[in-house]
Amino acid sequence: MKILAIDTATSASSVALGDRDELAAMSVRVDRRGHGSFLVPAIDFCFTTAGWKPGEVDVIAVDIGPGLFTGIRSGISTAQAIAAAIGAPMVAVNSLTTLAIRAATGRRRIWPVVDIRRGQFATRPYLPVPGGVAPDGDAEIVTADGLHNLIESDAEDTLIVGDAQSLPAATIRGLHRVKIGRPRYPSADVLLEIAAIHAQKGQFVRPEDVRPLYMREPDARINWSDFREEGRMAGSGGMMTVAGPTAFRPMDLPDLATVVELERLIYPQPWSEGIFRDELSRDDRIYIVAESNGTLVGFAGLMLIDDDAHVTTLAVRPDARHQGLGTRLMLQLIDAGLRRGARHLTLEVRATNSSAQRLYEKFGMVAVGVRKHYYRDDDAVIMWATDVDHPDYAERIARIRQSLEVSS
Ligand SMILES: CC(C)(COP(=O)(O)OP(=O)(O)OC[C@H]1O[C@@H](n2cnc3c(N)ncnc32)[C@H](O)[C@@H]1OP(=O)(O)O)[C@@H](O)C(=O)NCCC(=O)NCCS
Repeated sequence: MKILAIDTATSASSVALGDRDELAAMSVRVDRRGHGSFLVPAIDFCFTTAGWKPGEVDVIAVDIGPGLFTGIRSGISTAQAIAAAIGAPMVAVNSLTTLAIRAATGRRRIWPVVDIRRGQFATRPYLPVPGGVAPDGDAEIVTADGLHNLIESDAEDTLIVGDAQSLPAATIRGLHRVKIGRPRYPSADVLLEIAAIHAQKGQFVRPEDVRPLYMREPDARINWSDFREEGRMAGSGGMMTVAGPTAFRPMDLPDLATVVELERLIYPQPWSEGIFRDELSRDDRIYIVAESNGTLVGFAGLMLIDDDAHVTTLAVRPDARHQGLGTRLMLQLIDAGLRRGARHLTLEVRATNSSAQRLYEKFGMVAVGVRKHYYRDDDAVIMWATDVDHPDYAERIARIRQSLEVSS
């Protein structure tokens, strides 16, 4: 049984080829940003080294997280593409389990830790059992302090594996019965072993059913209103003509009163002023407002995670729509995102919001999946445009700008 395993869920990316008993080839790189550029050459390298052909692979294993958003996405989409091309089934493996299984202990309770950034860590307790490990509690997202409390309240001797080095020293200080151990990262050779066990039991997943396990949703909340909500807009019968030049500028605290008012009129679950304040205080966010004749007519936001830019919100006053403002706000967001090093663009949109989806499609965004029941009353369509830093994409943007000039 030949297995290809891909693990890009953390700062260490690895690819392995082999079966349960033998590792035929492996490639590893530790670099928190380089998942995408690593994968294809690493897969090629492994096939060349092993002397195997992709078509000979029986199973593809992939680490679905928790871990780094971009890495998980790159790993899963590459694994899915190969699996679909060669018709192989997949095995989806949790990064915490991958870490726990390699932890060198016969008796300590194992706490694998994965740094998921922004001061948060994914963890779950496991117990060593004959032939492997068994989860011994729920998976959780915690801060370093939260992890300290969890481990302090554990009466057992414990072993922390994984991203322990990312933890502030105070997390471990003062804890008794705690050891820090290996492995530091989940890795593809362990995936091979886990996949071989799943394969023996016939426990496969279809490629199209493999989903990332972020645990923390990208904290964008995009509660897109569909157009039924427009009925709630006071005075929405009239049309405001956006006359004269529209100015785009960064959103600032004095804008929040109007932004929140607009938010409440448009969205069924509006963001509070506090949420906007918090968003504006973060370095990895970009918020823009559109102003016409001194009136705030729209706003939009972007969250940057590694080289992914996640559209958190996009809204135009109902009486100022269909005049290209939504498109211009998107152009502004993309420009600002590119300046900050974004390479890919993503968002979630209500499945029923076809008008917004059309706007996003114009920007080359493609629906890649559906998150069932993401909204109280609707599914979310997940859309991506990759390589927006590429010249081809710049051409698309130039065409969109041109069309705006023609229609205005
Ligand atoms: C989605 C939203 C931001 C779009 O804003 P907008 O300013 O109307 O966007 P645009 O004007 O750029 O494009 C919308 C439509 O107007 C058309 N349009 C643009 N300029 C035009 C003009 N000068 N004359 C006539 N039509 C025009 C566009 O072609 C587009 O048509 P389509 O829907 O048939 O494809 C806005 O509808 C909104 O705030 N909706 C509620 C919140 C929401 O759903 N947000 C995001 C959804 S994920």
